[in-house]
Amino acid sequence: MKSSVYILGIESSCDETSAAVCCDGKILSNIIASQEIHQQYGGVVPELASRAHLQKIVQVVDAALKKAGIQKSQLSAVSFTQSPGLIGALLVGSGFAKSLALSLNLPLIEVHHMQAHVLSNLIEEPAPRFPFLCLTVSGGHTQIVRCTSPLSMEVLGETVDDAAGEAYDKTAKMLGLPYPGGPLIDAYAEQGDPKRFHFPEPQMPGLSFSFSGVKTSMLYFLQKHRQEDPAFVDTHLNDICASFQHTMISILLQKLKKASIETGIREICIAGGVAANKGLRKELSAMAKRFQWTIHIPSLEYCTDNAAMIAMIGYHKFIEKQFSPLTVTATARGGW
Ligand code: KG4
Ligand code: ZN
Repeated sequence: MKSSVYILGIESSCDETSAAVCCDGKILSNIIASQEIHQQYGGVVPELASRAHLQKIVQVVDAALKKAGIQKSQLSAVSFTQSPGLIGALLVGSGFAKSLALSLNLPLIEVHHMQAHVLSNLIEEPAPRFPFLCLTVSGGHTQIVRCTSPLSMEVLGETVDDAAGEAYDKTAKMLGLPYPGGPLIDAYAEQGDPKRFHFPEPQMPGLSFSFSGVKTSMLYFLQKHRQEDPAFVDTHLNDICASFQHTMISILLQKLKKASIETGIREICIAGGVAANKGLRKELSAMAKRFQWTIHIPSLEYCTDNAAMIAMIGYHKFIEKQFSPLTVTATARGGW
């Protein structure tokens, strides 16, 4: 009888220390330790992120193995996020993964974080059929990806400046909200009127995105209104958030619609931290009905950074014997 393939995944690219176990393509555990320390600084402090990863990684990996009900000796390979991310943070995860692979004499598998986000859609049932399009929206990236098999992906379009999550977080900061502001804007937006204020949408060619204009128009909008009424943000917070969110979702979904028309693909996925956005999830569902799309929206724990997606792509690379040498290094801005 063929023995099972157990892959350990390790994620440490930003401010979540995470470990997961995948058995034959099914996720058995996904432990995520978030780093609260950054909240008081209004953004992720790279040096503090690295230290927190170092403090947490041993217990997070132990917890993932325990929850999966397996011993280290049963592992078939160790996969880890090699790129992109904060270099110090990546070095903690990659160093740990390399040491573990070396000590247990296991294959090592490097993973590209953005490809892993796309494959987070394979974690739950029903999985998307290939080929599918994935709108990947996170704190560092905004991409539309065509995925033709677990390991064949092509970026069809991406942002030329800020990422969607970055636009959310920077706008939240302007509104005086703590980091990460994306989920807070989402919550206030639910209570507000999306048509109350107007923020212009950029006219970008092809499938490219741009969010810096929305951010700048928000800056001028707030400056003007605060001059007239210092309490403007407090009294209109829900409507400002709803109107900003309306603009962001419109920009994202217009491009997704264009990509679907151009490629003829109607199997549509979303991924990344901003895919946790309630407004985006709702509007995508409405669009799916209108255009007969089959959509896949990962559960919240698989949208924001997690190691389950690292273990999942690790499993597919293991099947294809795509292993990395122990000399592999982490890189902050690696391509794919
Ligand atoms: O994928 P992720 O966890 O980390 C990166 O790889 O960047 O994404 C984090 C981003 C942050 O910018 C955060 O504000 C945003 O995802 N985010 C949200 C929501 N939840 C997380 N943005 C909008 N609405 C949300 N509900
Ligand atoms: Zn991410």
